[in-house]
Amino acid sequence: MKDKAVIAGGSGLIGKALTRYLKSEGYRVIVLTRNIPKEKSGDIEYIIWDYREPGEWLKSIEGSEAVINLAGKNLASGRWTSGTKTAIRESRVNLTQNLVKYFDMLDDKPSYFISASAVGYYGNAPNPVDENSPRGKGFLAELTEDWEKSALAAEQSGIKTACLRFGAVLSMEGGALPRIVGPVKYFAGAIPGSGKQYFPWIHIDDAVRMIHFLMQKKSTGIFNAVSPNIITIEELIKTAGEILKRPVIFRIPEFPIRALLGEASEIILKGAAVKPERIISEGYDFKFRKIRQALDDLLK
Ligand SMILES: NC(=O)c1ccc[n+]([C@@H]2O[C@H](COP(=O)([O-])OP(=O)(O)OC[C@H]3O[C@@H](n4cnc5c(N)ncnc54)[C@H](OP(=O)(O)O)[C@@H]3O)[C@@H](O)[C@H]2O)c1
Repeated sequence: MKDKAVIAGGSGLIGKALTRYLKSEGYRVIVLTRNIPKEKSGDIEYIIWDYREPGEWLKSIEGSEAVINLAGKNLASGRWTSGTKTAIRESRVNLTQNLVKYFDMLDDKPSYFISASAVGYYGNAPNPVDENSPRGKGFLAELTEDWEKSALAAEQSGIKTACLRFGAVLSMEGGALPRIVGPVKYFAGAIPGSGKQYFPWIHIDDAVRMIHFLMQKKSTGIFNAVSPNIITIEELIKTAGEILKRPVIFRIPEFPIRALLGEASEIILKGAAVKPERIISEGYDFKFRKIRQALDDLLK
């Protein structure tokens, strides 16, 4: 048995795939969750936690090789009311702040800490961006800045820390892709807005392999977790249409999307051409570089 990896929010889209991957690599995996799943996989340990209090669950982190923080209220579940924004923020910024604060209570602190972030950091950038580019404007950009600061504070406790700014993680088990592909299958695929907005993406296999790669190297700082090939949302939907042999002929103007989702429409209508400079310079080898190759795999 290899070392212990503890995944906060490990029941979600990335967490489930990461759990499977780390188990296959021989790790002992512990998932911190608010609810033990009904159908749990036999050899994964689930532990109930509440980030607001350092309970029994904290002991599971003692002596771990890595803690991976993937927790956070889903961003794409409708309009962002002020209550939703507070919940989105607290479940990321406050949760991460507390987790890092509790690390100091441990005798044997984790060797490495990885915390999720998002390419929403860059907002609607007109030119290509990398890890050195400035933060964009808007709720998501401000949120991710505070979220990352909360995570990187773990360095002050001597824990090597990395933040991964994920693009849309492509998987048929959840997230954006099934919502996009569903209508395409039924000849109702439609391009939102101009279609020219950038769509930073990463195949789920690369998302989990990248986490494991960083766990092994213990590299620190910010990493863009996106494929090196920059595409627009129109290219994504049209490529899905080609693979599924369905024409994509409709367009949805920006106005009804904004009317329906309000500020949350920025997830669909805005984007940045994000480049994964740092992970490439660390020597990471992408499994899926091109969208055609990724969708061929996911939609087969
Ligand atoms: N998937 C993407 O395309 C993508 C893109 C950019 C950034 N990210 C970020 O990467 C992280 C992981 O993404 P994901 O797609 O795996 O997320 P996910 O499927 O939504 O799962 C997140 C997990 O967080 C926990 N959680 C939800 N609400 C919470 C709350 N209020 N308090 C504490 N825990 C809560 C849940 O675990 P329990 O119910 O078991 O407690 C859930 O399984 C998220 O922070 C997300 O914002 C994801």
